[in-house]
Amino acid sequence: MPRLPTMLLDGRTPSPADLDWLLASRALAFGEGVFTSLRVYNGQLVFCDDHFWRLRSGLESLQSDLNAIDWQVLNTELVEMAAQQQEGAIKVMLLAGPGGLGYQRAQTPQWHRLLHPRPLQLNAQAYTAGIECWWQACPGTNPRAASKHLNRLSQVLASQGCPTHFPEALQYNLRGEIIEAIARNVFWFADGCWHTPSLMTGALAGVMRRQLQQHLTAAKLRESEAGLDMLQQAEEVFVCNSLQGIWPVTSLHHSEGCLARWQVGSETRKLMAEFHPQMGLPQI
Ligand SMILES: Cc1ncc(COP(=O)(O)O)c(C=O)c1O
Repeated sequence: MPRLPTMLLDGRTPSPADLDWLLASRALAFGEGVFTSLRVYNGQLVFCDDHFWRLRSGLESLQSDLNAIDWQVLNTELVEMAAQQQEGAIKVMLLAGPGGLGYQRAQTPQWHRLLHPRPLQLNAQAYTAGIECWWQACPGTNPRAASKHLNRLSQVLASQGCPTHFPEALQYNLRGEIIEAIARNVFWFADGCWHTPSLMTGALAGVMRRQLQQHLTAAKLRESEAGLDMLQQAEEVFVCNSLQGIWPVTSLHHSEGCLARWQVGSETRKLMAEFHPQMGLPQI
């Protein structure tokens, strides 16, 4: 396996002295910051513009100043790192530094950028045979749930709640509406069109979700607030993210047994064929 490039903090290799500000940072104390993970394939960043869009809209939803980040420099660093890495993933974190008084921010907050290259392990069977999912209540609602901010305690608790032999769980909110999987958005095909939960349910605005929205257009994709019954009537279901693409879902389970079964169908296959080649992922 080729060696990974080194991590970059504000454009340089992190040093032990960085621990001083990191331990005092608002990112560590309050989860103030945003992140995204980009797929790197053939030395290129996959869906790069959408990842930048998400970082920006995440900062906006935290009411942070977008000019505090040098977006041009971030882009150059990412492109160079991807060219060196060739294959895998890069996690980008924008971290609020120290300052302010308790929860109250400083007048001019400091921001830092961390680029962390990582290998990407693929679950080859998920693409061909699909996966079984666990059905569970979402453990909590994050503020600004659509944003990819650093507070991911709900996902940490959700992973704890999902039995280990299920690669993913589908989660529902207090109103019983399906939201998303633990680290993926969810789509289902019914009545000749695709459906996905609206962001009102508490779903994250995923990059893959956005790509699918643009590809399918409003004519073939509806956003809805739907319960388990709608999912049970669906013909096909899949979960997706921008690193590992589309995983067909073949069944849904809870403590009393199986709630639903689906085929790995032709509509899901079409979307895998459309998106996976550019992501370096298997098609079936
Ligand atoms: C909670 C949650 N929902 C959805 C997604 C999918 O996001 P994306 O398509 O941007 O990778 C993720 C990705 O990690 C996630 O953590």
